[in-house]
Amino acid sequence: MKITGTGSAMPSLAVTNDMLSEFLDTNDEWISTRTGIKERRIISDETLTSLAVDAAKKAIESAGLTPNDIDYFLCSNVVNNFVTPSLSCILQGEIGANCPSLDLNAACTGFIYALDIAESFIQTGRAENVLIVCAEEPTRMVNWKERNTCVLFGDGAGAVVVSKGDAFKAFHISTQSKIEPLYYQRKLEYNPYQSHPDGDAPLIMNGKDVFKLAVSSSVSDIRNVLEKSSLNADDIKYYLLHQANIRIIDTIRDFLKQPDDKFPHNIENYGNTSSASIPILLDEMRRAGKFTKGDMLLFSAFGAGFTTGACVLEWNM
Ligand code: ACO
Repeated sequence: MKITGTGSAMPSLAVTNDMLSEFLDTNDEWISTRTGIKERRIISDETLTSLAVDAAKKAIESAGLTPNDIDYFLCSNVVNNFVTPSLSCILQGEIGANCPSLDLNAACTGFIYALDIAESFIQTGRAENVLIVCAEEPTRMVNWKERNTCVLFGDGAGAVVVSKGDAFKAFHISTQSKIEPLYYQRKLEYNPYQSHPDGDAPLIMNGKDVFKLAVSSSVSDIRNVLEKSSLNADDIKYYLLHQANIRIIDTIRDFLKQPDDKFPHNIENYGNTSSASIPILLDEMRRAGKFTKGDMLLFSAFGAGFTTGACVLEWNM
């Protein structure tokens, strides 16, 4: 499998840390030093669907394909307006594709999970071109009166087209069932036969636990895929890590003993956009001409679940 197209779309509204301190007991100094975030984009006039369609169309166009060329469509998403039909079904019609469409929810690791599934389809000959769209609106999961969580997130969509090729060298994905560090419950309809209480909580996070899990799992996943692909840490040109917190990225970098410039980031502009964060960064870097054919890239992400994943690929676009 190889990446043949990338795209992204961000909301127009940029909300700075100072804007948050107008209604929250917080300040730019706390948010910047603890997280690296200066501002985030938040959906206002747009919809998540319109961003996802925009990102998908750009990825298809940059691959030199048309929607008819897409054989399978995977959408990574945690929340949107519809529980059913899935977001991928809604997007498929908007994009004008005519192929099976499936949503997956592996939280912030969704992009790596989607790539892993796409590779199986491509390797088994069931698809030649798979469209992956990661479309996330975590700002609708948090309590906007809760400074511990709401300052961390932003909305956005990133997409890639993957096709037949031999660029991907190794994958490692994992799940450890751990609910307590990070969860969001939605309210279900009343059922007269059930008496147990309903969960109905905005995003709950134990930041310190997530921090430790993120660093340990990501370092271990990265070492796993380096070993599987017979590479060492120095061989990687760029590590594109899930953009959750600059201190998490810096700590992982320290464990790997690698220079700062190998760890590109845009968390300062967008906050944590869940599974969309790596494909958004990838698309920005491709458009800025940062990649050369033959560069080795490593993606690594972690998310609620607790899910984690990493992969290594050679850039070929
Ligand atoms: N502004 C000002 N003060 C704040 C804020 C805020 N926005 N949020 C918390 N505080 C206060 C706390 O109330 C606490 O005050 P206290 O000491 O009086 O009780 C103090 O700051 C320190 O709080 P801690 O939770 O100890 O701060 P910590 O250094 O752990 O940083 C953070 C918190 C940034 C959340 C950190 O734990 C972290 O980065 N964790 C990783 C979690 C993460 O990245 N999650 C993203 C989503 S998960 C994902 O993508 C998989």
